Amino acid sequence: MVKNLGALDVDVLVMSDLVLDLRGIRKTYRGGVEALKGVDLQVPRGCIYGLLGPNGAGKSTLVKILTTLIRRTGGEGTMLGLPIGDREGLKRVGLLPEHARFPDYLTGRQVIEFTAGLQEVPKGAVSGRVDDLLEKVGMVEAQGRKMKGYSKGMKQRIGIAQALVNDPEIVFLDEPTDGVDPAGRRDFRELMKDLKAEGRTIFINTHILSELEPIVDRVAIIAGGELKGEGVLDDLRQGGDEYRVEFVGDLSEEVARKFAEEGMGVAPGMIVVGSSQVEEVQPVIDGLRAAGVMVSKVEQRRESLEDLFMNLVEVSPNVGPPPMPGVNVA
Ligand SMILES: Nc1ncnc2c1ncn2[C@@H]1O[C@H](COP(=O)(O)OP(=O)(O)OP(=O)(O)O)[C@@H](O)[C@H]1O
Ligand SMILES: [Mg+2]
Repeated sequence: MVKNLGALDVDVLVMSDLVLDLRGIRKTYRGGVEALKGVDLQVPRGCIYGLLGPNGAGKSTLVKILTTLIRRTGGEGTMLGLPIGDREGLKRVGLLPEHARFPDYLTGRQVIEFTAGLQEVPKGAVSGRVDDLLEKVGMVEAQGRKMKGYSKGMKQRIGIAQALVNDPEIVFLDEPTDGVDPAGRRDFRELMKDLKAEGRTIFINTHILSELEPIVDRVAIIAGGELKGEGVLDDLRQGGDEYRVEFVGDLSEEVARKFAEEGMGVAPGMIVVGSSQVEEVQPVIDGLRAAGVMVSKVEQRRESLEDLFMNLVEVSPNVGPPPMPGVNVA
């Protein structure tokens, strides 16, 4: 079941506020791989939206369907209020494809101009727009060099610039920071914020979660072709917050069992309170002191996007200390 705790109730949004409204999107590749098994997704206008998932989850497949690089097997949907694949709609969309390959013999500037031509950007607007974009992605100095001489990160910067040349309302970026260095990643995050401030919707496919965490408004988590969770990050994270109360000394079997019966996680030297309410921690501290052990640390732990992701896709069950009923054997 999809975990959906988003504060924004998409059902009450009028259609025009959704730039993407997808119902039951399916894709079975020739050979039988079911890459998407019926994906429903609603993306409000003007947000930074992250589609997160492990390798092979179906992220690129979804973006390829929306940008008509491949055909879907089933499902319906609209993009910018128009049916998926509508030519007019596609002119208002930008794309940085996964593993983007641009002709090696073109300069960075020419690649952006090339996309401008494909996207039918008015001739008079191209030069100024390309100048702005080169500035935005930090490629002014290298603009006259050929793509074949660029590093991976430089190619990616040009890729992002060409995705913006038609002044798109939605930009799809499939693994945009692949090969980009730390300074470039920081620049990227700033650029995403600027694009959002301009009213654009940014749809980012990634498995590098830490990249997205500071900037993303909503996320969908996908694995095995199915959505596992969707919503506002803070809401999705709720329930993952906990307090850890560390202590020095040994608990008797009876006291440890009592904590476990009250739903606490009992680990060696630590009680885990599955709540973000500090009030719920106080009886634990009292109980530990009454049991004659010394409380050495109380720490609030916030579930990171990474923890959430791991929990939802069940890649690893090893997230945080599992509640261990029974005796502290420290
Ligand atoms: N052209 C294709 N033919 C057959 N199967 C494919 C094709 N493209 C993708 N697949 C399969 O579809 C599934 C989803 O692939 P997809 O590329 O959408 O995943 P992804 O989430 O983008 O992964 P990554 O993070 O590695 O980019 C995978 O099992 C993949 O092997
Ligand atoms: Mg992919």
